[in-house]
Amino acid sequence: MPATAASLAAAADLLRAGDLVAFPTETVYGLGGDATNERAVAAIFAAKGRPRFNPLIAHVADREAAARQGRMTPLAERLAARFWPGPLTLVLARQADCQVAELSGAGLAAVALRVPAHPIASYLLRRVGRPVAAPSANPSGRISPTTAQHVVDGLGRRVAMILDGGACPVGLESTVVDCTGEAPLLLRPGGVSREALEAVVGPLASAGDPKRPSAPGQLASHYAPRRPVRLNATDVAPDEALLAFGANVPSGGCARLNLSPAGDLVEAAANLFAMLRRLDAPPARAIAAMPVPNAGLGLAINDRLARAAAPAEAIPC
Ligand code: TXA
Ligand code: MG
Repeated sequence: MPATAASLAAAADLLRAGDLVAFPTETVYGLGGDATNERAVAAIFAAKGRPRFNPLIAHVADREAAARQGRMTPLAERLAARFWPGPLTLVLARQADCQVAELSGAGLAAVALRVPAHPIASYLLRRVGRPVAAPSANPSGRISPTTAQHVVDGLGRRVAMILDGGACPVGLESTVVDCTGEAPLLLRPGGVSREALEAVVGPLASAGDPKRPSAPGQLASHYAPRRPVRLNATDVAPDEALLAFGANVPSGGCARLNLSPAGDLVEAAANLFAMLRRLDAPPARAIAAMPVPNAGLGLAINDRLARAAAPAEAIPC
């Protein structure tokens, strides 16, 4: 449905009734359900085929709504003041009267909260008036959706409504920062770069070993196309599709798309998931991904590419 006053009102009613609605955010499309309703949250896990221990982000309209669910530390306040609304998720200790269902947080003592900037998401959240749990609107382990058509392709009739807001401008999931400890911890690189975060809070530690995830979502194989992905490609075989970056692109391959011919990491992030999907098609046997610099949004792009290249058996579901 195109986003109109009528479709947004209907979407809010569906969410309040416990149904699932996919909606655009500035990062990726979210598969939304009422975060305070265990049945709606269970329906999200079922629609995605998601491992139960992987907790969801609760989306709220503003900082005040976030502070009612999670305990804002001084550090969280600084990050929220700078980056909300926007592609940042804060992991906070649950308030004693936190309304977010235990199932949404996978039973953890912390709750992940985000205030999205996308006008459709923002309007919808205001209208629903409750936290909305929303993982990316794709089957678990597959590529995140950056258009409404991607959601149709992956989840089809498993959602009551899909709000179409066009392509997501950031194109990568939010950055997840754990603010429950003494020092902030980067759990997932994303739409807000490490450099931008560090300018506000100083040096940032990262959650380390992907085999022992401290963010349960940090599973090695994720965002996976069906075809194998070869990283740091400087050449391309005849049966490979090339995911190029920058101006110096090798010739060959059976298909090719360029994340950003100008070498712009913001443009590359916005294109990443849609291009991976388009290259994940016959006659290609594999996808060869050129190297992307590991600075700014390049950190998150490389994180997603590494996960796309990890063997599928690493998906535990
Ligand atoms: O951009 C985004 O964040 C998108 C849009 C729809 O907002 N959502 C998204 O959600 O990417 P999802 O469910 O695919 O990723 C949620 C991430 C996972 O890595 C999960 O483990 C982490 O947030 N997370 C959620 N709750 C957590 C918690 N209590 N403690 C630690 N990590 C948590
Ligand atoms: Mg996801």
